[in-house]
Amino acid sequence: MNVRIRPMTTDDVAGVDEQKMATFEAQDREEGREPELVPDDVHERNAARLHHQLGTDPDGCLVAVEGGRIVGHVVALLREYLWCLPMLHVHPESQSGGIGRRLLDAALDYGKDAEAGIIMASSDPRALRLYTTSGFVLHPAMEISGRVRHRPPAPVGVREGGDDDFGLTVEVDRRVRGVPHGANGNDVRFIRDLGSRFAVLDRGGERGYVLWREGRVVLLAATTEAVACELLRHVLAAVGDDDIDIWAVTGSQQWAIRTAYDAGLVLKPGGALLTRGRLGPMTPYLASGLYL
Ligand SMILES: CC(C)(COP(=O)(O)OP(=O)(O)OC[C@H]1O[C@@H](n2cnc3c(N)ncnc32)[C@H](O)[C@@H]1OP(=O)(O)O)[C@@H](O)C(=O)NCCC(=O)NCCS
Repeated sequence: MNVRIRPMTTDDVAGVDEQKMATFEAQDREEGREPELVPDDVHERNAARLHHQLGTDPDGCLVAVEGGRIVGHVVALLREYLWCLPMLHVHPESQSGGIGRRLLDAALDYGKDAEAGIIMASSDPRALRLYTTSGFVLHPAMEISGRVRHRPPAPVGVREGGDDDFGLTVEVDRRVRGVPHGANGNDVRFIRDLGSRFAVLDRGGERGYVLWREGRVVLLAATTEAVACELLRHVLAAVGDDDIDIWAVTGSQQWAIRTAYDAGLVLKPGGALLTRGRLGPMTPYLASGLYL
């Protein structure tokens, strides 16, 4: 049957979530894990994110459809001159048949004038091949996970972020990533409004911010490693006893690896970050899976 690529619409949101969940379940089984029941609030958050992305980048959101059924989807975002790829998934029954390549090519076309790009890749060999053969430089990454066994003291000077602090995130992002997360830090605001906690450190010339929720450090950027370590320690001091995950920790983030080991967390290989073009130093930086 013919597979057609077409723009995603808000009517596709439930079908895209269903297809993504089927992809994750298959991935879990392949890696020897029994898939866990997905709570309703995860589906709600997924839907809210997709609606937000459809709102900011309607032409970057595409689905692959076969016989009326969604078998794949991709989401690409454009922020000034930066193109980001937060999502590319193909239904397990349709994988390895070229749909991933077609979706990626369409998403790249959406960013054809962008001077820079970022992708966070899973460990799927097909994903790694797709991105590296599309002109991206691969930075192998580790995943930090586990329970905080040695809780660090909460650093002095880190405070809860407020509505007046999105300007700080814009400034820090310009220094570290080159491009802010949305005009006026709107993506950062969206992440916070969706339930992440937001903290900042602003000490004269040194500044940074972090977003996290139970189980995950979502995004961290700072102008110095000292500030980045303090922000990460702030999170590790505040999280409960559940496991916490930090994705896409590349070799440039030795400060994060040291801080995580001090807290008794565990490191294991986990995918890659891929970049191309004119970016900032990308360190000290922990990229968000959905906004990179
Ligand atoms: C990664 C993914 C999106 C790729 O889509 P796909 O339709 O399965 O892949 P394609 O058939 O387009 O193949 C992609 C490339 O991998 C190669 N490939 C196909 N099967 C492969 C396999 N079993 N092992 C290694 N490479 C393989 C293809 O030759 C192709 O490269 P080419 O275009 O240069 O020939 C899809 O497999 C998927 O959803 N995986 C699980 C979720 C995931 O990890 N997503 C990526 C998030 S970053």
